[in-house]
Amino acid sequence: MRFVVEFRHVTKTYARTHTHALKNVDFLIRKGEFVYFTGHSGAGKSTLLSLVLRRITPSEGAVAIAGQDLALLRESQLPLLRRRIGMVFQDHRLLPKLSSLDNLTFALRATGYRGNYEQRALGALRQVGLAHKRKAYPIELSLGEQQRIAIARALVTDPPLLLCDEPTGNLDPDTSWEILELLNDVNIKGTTVIVATHSRDLVDRLKRRTMVLRSGELVRDDDRGGYSL
Ligand SMILES: Nc1ncnc2c1ncn2[C@@H]1O[C@H](COP(=O)(O)OP(=O)(O)O)[C@@H](O)[C@H]1O
Ligand SMILES: [Mg+2]
Repeated sequence: MRFVVEFRHVTKTYARTHTHALKNVDFLIRKGEFVYFTGHSGAGKSTLLSLVLRRITPSEGAVAIAGQDLALLRESQLPLLRRRIGMVFQDHRLLPKLSSLDNLTFALRATGYRGNYEQRALGALRQVGLAHKRKAYPIELSLGEQQRIAIARALVTDPPLLLCDEPTGNLDPDTSWEILELLNDVNIKGTTVIVATHSRDLVDRLKRRTMVLRSGELVRDDDRGGYSL
């Protein structure tokens, strides 16, 4: 597998509203990279992540994951694709009536994973430094801890690719930085990480490859990173 994520001349138009969310977007992301997609609200970041998950399909062009053209994937192959891609949102979307551990085992069960659920879930909680909170319910955790649990849940199937859509959108600067450091650790251990964020601070603080979207166009791809070089 050469590239984890490959976009070839991808255009996405939302037909109902005639919105050109992405225009002729072209890039490659290699295994092990940490990449930001940044740009203002409405620039097309979330659309791009939805295409990677094949929640939506391109109007033109092609998206390939691990060398596989998503247009050729059968419906029955989608669960496997999504098991191999972890997803973190701005709001943690944890189930309020389940403990941290149960949120993870629940997610694991839904993927059809075979093995010891609890052991695997505990491993993921350890990875985010919150094994001691395994019995806590979401309401008993700080916002930062809730987001760490959400990251653990995204990692519970040990996916090679982690997508984060505005992962620090609800957090104060210090907590945002902790989340960013955690994502960096996850990346160092080998997971490819893609972070969509409108936050200049984030992108400037931990400098990594940065792709800038402006009204659906990829206007910059900078290996050195940082927003305002
Ligand atoms: N499901 C949808 N239907 C119609 N238009 C959409 C839909 N999702 C997003 N858009 C539009 O596409 C553009 C890009 O949106 P989005 O990808 O959410 O940007 P970002 O995540 O960078 O804020 C915006 O103009 C938005 O209004
Ligand atoms: Mg968005």
